[in-house]
Amino acid sequence: MHLTNYEEAALKGEYGEAIASSYRVLVALGDYMGADRLIAISSAHISGVNYANIGDEGLVFLEKFASDAKVRVKTTLNPCGMQVDRPEVLKTPADFATKQKRIIEIYAKLGVRTALSCVPYEYDNKPRKGSHAAWAESSASIYGNSILGIMTNRESAISSLAAAITGKVPNAGMHVKENRVAGIAVSVDAELDSTTDFGMLGLYAGKLTSKPIGFTGIKKMDRFSGKALGAGIGTSGSSPMFIILKDSNGLETIHFGKKELNEIKESLSNVEDPQMILLGCPFYALQEVSRLASGLRGRRVTKPTYLHLSSSVYSRAERVGLIDRLRSSGVNVVKDACPSLTPIGSWNGYTDVVTDSPKGSYYMRTALKYNVNVWDIDSIIRSYSK
Ligand code: F3S
Repeated sequence: MHLTNYEEAALKGEYGEAIASSYRVLVALGDYMGADRLIAISSAHISGVNYANIGDEGLVFLEKFASDAKVRVKTTLNPCGMQVDRPEVLKTPADFATKQKRIIEIYAKLGVRTALSCVPYEYDNKPRKGSHAAWAESSASIYGNSILGIMTNRESAISSLAAAITGKVPNAGMHVKENRVAGIAVSVDAELDSTTDFGMLGLYAGKLTSKPIGFTGIKKMDRFSGKALGAGIGTSGSSPMFIILKDSNGLETIHFGKKELNEIKESLSNVEDPQMILLGCPFYALQEVSRLASGLRGRRVTKPTYLHLSSSVYSRAERVGLIDRLRSSGVNVVKDACPSLTPIGSWNGYTDVVTDSPKGSYYMRTALKYNVNVWDIDSIIRSYSK
C-alpha cells in the first residue's frame, strides 16, 4: 500500500503513540483488504462504548489510548449500557454506571460527540451522499451504504476509532465503486407487512453472501423497513449493503417466500408469556415513536415496556408531546442505552422478553440469555395493552 511521507512518519511515532497505533491498524487492514492507499473520510461512528461489552479491558485500553489523541472528523458514538443522566431508570448498578460514565468521558476527551445512538443518520451524523465514512455498527453502516448512499465498510470498534483519529480509511471494499454491486439476488414473493418482517428477510439474506445483496420483488419499502432489513443482514452475516433491483440481471437468485418467512417467525418465538417488552433496536426514529404513540392512544401497556431512543430523537419527541403520551400509556422511554446488549432483564428480574426486532432478539438470546419472542409492533400493542 502506498503511504505518503506524512503517513510514514506518523507510523514511526513522530506524532504520538495513538496516531502511530491508529496507522498500524489501518495499514494492517489495508494490506489485508488489498487497498492501494489510504483515503480521507468526513465522518466516523464508533461502536466500542457499552461497558457491558467492552468491560474493564476496553476501559483500560481507552484510558491509555486517549492520553495523546484527538479525532479529526465528525465522530459519534454507539449506544452505551445506561441512561447517562438517570442511571436509576434501568436500575443500573453503581459500579457499572461509574465505569460507563468514564468510558464516555474518555471519548469526549478525544473530541467524539457523545450522541449515543445507533441511528446517527437521524440527526447527529449525516454525511453527504457519495462521501467516504468509517462507520462501525453494522445496521448503521448498511443503512449508510444502501439508503444514504455514503461509502463505508462495516468497521469494528478498533478500526472506526483508528479512522476517526487519522481521518482516513484504506481504499478498499465499499470505498471502491466497482465493489458496490450485488453479488447475489434474493427474489422476494412473501408479503412483508411490518418492519419486523423486513428484519426477518434480512436475517435470511445476510447468511447468503459477504457481498452486497440485490433484492427483487420488494414492492414497497420505506426507510424504516430498510433500516430493519439492514439490521437483519448485519446480524446474520457480513454483507455490507443491499440494493433494490428491477430484475436479477443474471445473478444467482435465491427465493424468499411465505414458507421461508414463516419458518423464521416460528424459530423466533419461544416464550409463552413474556415478562417485558423491549423496543428500539435499532433505536426508533421520531416517526416510529409517533406511530407507537398513535397505536397506544387511549391504551396502557400491560407489561413493563422500555422504548430506547437517542437523546436527539428523545428531545424532539419530548418537544412535540410524544414522550408524555407514551409515559401516560405506561411506556418507559429510555435514552442512550442499547436494549439488546445491556442486562436490563437481570437488573430488573426478567428473563422472558418480546421485541419487534429480529436483530435485537439475536443479541438478547446470545449475549443476555433471555428467552425471546419476535412480533411486529401492531401484534405487541394488540396483545399487551388495553
Ligand atoms: Fe442499536 Fe443495540 Fe440494536 S446498538 S442496533 S440497539 S444491538
